[in-house]
Amino acid sequence: MSGDTYLVTGAMGCLGAWVIRLLLEDGCEVVAFDISEDDRRHQLIIGSEDRRQIRYVKGDLTDSDQVMSAVEGVSRIIHLGALQVPFCRADRPMGAAVNVVGTVNIFEAALRHSIEHLVYASSVAVFGNAEDYEVSTIEPGERRLPTTLYGIWKCANESTARIYEADYGLPSVGLIPHTIYGPGRDQGLTSQPTSAVLAAVRERAFHIEYGGSLALQFAPDAARDFIQSSRLEPQGSEVHGLGGTVASIAEFVEGIKQVTDFTEITHGEDRLPFPEAVDSASLETRLGALSYTPLLESIDRSVQWFEEANLTGLPLPE
Ligand SMILES: NC(=O)c1ccc[n+]([C@@H]2O[C@H](COP(=O)([O-])OP(=O)(O)OC[C@H]3O[C@@H](n4cnc5c(N)ncnc54)[C@H](O)[C@@H]3O)[C@@H](O)[C@H]2O)c1
Repeated sequence: MSGDTYLVTGAMGCLGAWVIRLLLEDGCEVVAFDISEDDRRHQLIIGSEDRRQIRYVKGDLTDSDQVMSAVEGVSRIIHLGALQVPFCRADRPMGAAVNVVGTVNIFEAALRHSIEHLVYASSVAVFGNAEDYEVSTIEPGERRLPTTLYGIWKCANESTARIYEADYGLPSVGLIPHTIYGPGRDQGLTSQPTSAVLAAVRERAFHIEYGGSLALQFAPDAARDFIQSSRLEPQGSEVHGLGGTVASIAEFVEGIKQVTDFTEITHGEDRLPFPEAVDSASLETRLGALSYTPLLESIDRSVQWFEEANLTGLPLPE
């Protein structure tokens, strides 16, 4: 909605860049909060004219004062800042500080500033292995059985949201991404499908280390659903699955081949330690409709995006 001022944390990340692009298209003001000043994803995703509209704030989620002052004057918050699985593994105390304390700092600042429109990213990593559940697409309220510290800390985020609502009346919406893909997705356990698309564009062989089926969520679609969720009439502490396409890695690789004619993309067989998908029906009910680009079309759009970036010299990951 035009006229709103958003705080986006994790602003320099993949989802952050897409959320900001779409918010600017909507005519919103954006405060982009991130510890990193690396703007390669912004260059890739947001036009240079639009980037000038962004108020960049370099800040650390673990610093409650910095978070508190970043929330000053904003009307809605989309909290995406986090360390992903490999970074949490590399520095566990830092992972806990950013993902747990950083999220508490956001909720605390939202409470003090009476922000009723707060959306945050949970993760499919709150769940256990696919074999731990009886069905392949599980309900968002299913038992949490995380197998990683990252997953445990995302559970802590959901519980934090529940208590801030129950004890202090602060509503929020938690969304559960599974595998985000598309331009800008270049780090984290589930970034390999996107790396494979980029490799095909460059005609370089690439091996995706895992297989199985997963919910593939095109970054612009996921970003739009985060934004729409931030405009809902508050209703307690909600947690929903995101939409997307449930497909096997084999189908995704086949899609890359179909779009690019490049055949040297391969994949492993091991499944990721998560269920295939989280049901998004409750989010669809709340939003009316989910943003959705069919798989082949989204691969095609990603290929075109990367080709254009190559031609115009925009920064792409190695
Ligand atoms: N990408 C996925 O498939 C996926 C899946 C499940 C959950 N998620 C969650 O969605 C959110 C966004 O994912 P993404 O793919 O955009 O992640 P990303 O890794 O691309 O971006 C995360 C951003 O957080 C920032 N950050 C890290 N520590 C910070 C700190 N101390 N202070 C401020 N900023 C800090 C990083 O600099 C980075 O720009 C994250 O919370 C992630 O855990 C993503």
